[in-house]
Amino acid sequence: MSLELDSRQRAMLEAMGVQVWWPETPPAELPAEPAHAAPVATAAPVRQATEPARAAAPTQRTERPTGIASMSWPQLQAAVAGCEACALCRTRTQTVFGVGPQPGDTPPQVDWLIVGEAPGENEDLQGEPFVGQAGKLLDNMLKAVGLSRHGNAPLKGAFIANVLKCRPPGNRNPSPEEVAQCLPYLQRQVALLQPKIIVAAGRFAVQALLQETVPDVHAQPLGKLRGRVHRYQGVPVVVTYHPAYLLRALPEKAKTWADLCLALEALDAP
Ligand code: URA
Repeated sequence: MSLELDSRQRAMLEAMGVQVWWPETPPAELPAEPAHAAPVATAAPVRQATEPARAAAPTQRTERPTGIASMSWPQLQAAVAGCEACALCRTRTQTVFGVGPQPGDTPPQVDWLIVGEAPGENEDLQGEPFVGQAGKLLDNMLKAVGLSRHGNAPLKGAFIANVLKCRPPGNRNPSPEEVAQCLPYLQRQVALLQPKIIVAAGRFAVQALLQETVPDVHAQPLGKLRGRVHRYQGVPVVVTYHPAYLLRALPEKAKTWADLCLALEALDAP
């Protein structure tokens, strides 16, 4: 016996974080595979095949391009835009690659990379990170240290990206599997941008970036990781609170100012 769900019911279940088995999509309806795409293992929910003989292994139902570590900036943008590595691809409006000055085919030349958590509703609609209230606060904080997302003079440009490039439904927390699937994109963004400083804003950015270098990072309160300079791919990393948290905890803004001053110092350090 099979449970028949219409698309609205499926969307509701997914929005609640309930994983559903999808009927097999006829091959003709599947999007064309990017030239560099190859199936990879994933923990994301899989669609159920209608016939056992055609049953697809989980690894064949969701796809993330291979070779991310050697992609150019435009290749990386295209790979993110077409990514189907986890179930978030079914609920997103669009991917959110990041924003910085000089959009184009080469990585923007920036000293600063700001890393947040994941797109929210507005970001999903507009395709740009931090465009809501938290984004306004982030823009003001950046301005205080002479930076802006577009680098309009006299401000210098900063690149802003998230750990996840797709919105988790209902703005729920990213799952470990989603972070694991998406992190290679951020890794490549860092390698191509070669920032001089990374500001990790909030728990998910901190955990994603420092999991290799801070063994018990998941158990550490964010406050304990502030105030010192960490490293990610050789780049200094400063930990700070997420702007959305600061909107609810205004007294912590002073601490974020201290974090930005530490980032300025780390940037100037030999
Ligand atoms: N919160 C984030 O972490 N990133 C965004 O882009 C928006 C809100």
